Order: sequence, then structure tokens, then C-alpha cells
Amino acid sequence: MKIKVKNSGIVRLTTRKDARRGDLFVAESMKNIPFAIKRVYSVNNIKDPAVVRGHHAHKKTKQVIFCANGSFKLSLDDGKRKQEIFLSTHAFGIILGPMLWHTMSGFSKDCVIVVFASEHYNEKDYIRSYEDFLKLVKKHEQRK
Ligand code: TYD
Repeated sequence: MKIKVKNSGIVRLTTRKDARRGDLFVAESMKNIPFAIKRVYSVNNIKDPAVVRGHHAHKKTKQVIFCANGSFKLSLDDGKRKQEIFLSTHAFGIILGPMLWHTMSGFSKDCVIVVFASEHYNEKDYIRSYEDFLKLVKKHEQRK
């Protein structure tokens, strides 16, 4: 799989697979996670398969999103390019860098999402309007 959008990438976790004892996955700050982790959050118990989460971008926060169990679809949009990624393994995660619009959908009943973030929760860091997001992408381009 190749990432086509900006401000994203693939993070591979260290894995210790054991068919009987279970699979161990290790994420380490500044090693496979490319930033110092300030916050970890997870989402589970998504009962309605029609639910769509996310629908925002961040100004500064960097994140890596994993599917710890089950599966879901991650949709990425950098304002120019769009990409959909089906996540169904803990072995790799996707970087959600700043200025990357993302939505999560198509959750299996047993889906567990785990996210590592570079910043504490701060609503001011969110861009929740797609229109504003596109305007900010244009602004960033003009600055270059
Ligand atoms: P929301 O941004 O809607 O989640 P998602 O992006 O997965 O759809 O967050 C749901 C609520 O939880 C919202 O009121 C903000 C709050 N929240 C926190 O208080 N701390 C956090 O770390 C996160 C991610 C959300």
C-alpha cells in the first residue's frame, strides 16, 4: 500500500506473533511513532454500522491511528488528493499529520480504534468545517 496524500504515512509496529499466546504489538515514542506521545485514546462499542466519525482536520496535532480489533475504513483528504484505506490489523497505523481531513466509517461490530496523539486535547486545534479546511489549505499554499 502506498500513501498518496500529504502529511500522512505508514507506521509499522514491532510485532511478536505467537499463535497460542497471542500477538504482541509495541509502539514507542520517537521510535516507530514519529513524535512524543502526549495522549492516547480509543473508540469501541460502535453499534451503528452507518456511523461516520472524524470529519475534521487538526492545525498542529499529529496522530497515528490503528485498528486494534475488527476493521474500518479511513478516508483521507489533504485538500487536493483523497485516499481510502481499509484498516484491519494492529501491525501498522496511519499517520494523521496536521491539515489532513479524515473520516472513519464502515466499522465492524468488534472494531477497536486506538490513536496516539502529539498534543493534549484542545478543541481550538480542530478544523471542523470542510469549507474552512479548504480555505486554510489554499492559504498554506500561498505562503510557500
Ligand atoms: P469527536 O471529535 O467527535 O470524535 P471523533 O473525531 O472520533 O468523531 O469527539 C467526541 C467528543 O469527545 C467531543 O466532545 C470532544 C471529546 N474529546 C475529548 O474530550 N478528548 C479527546 O481526546 C477526544 C479525541 C475527544
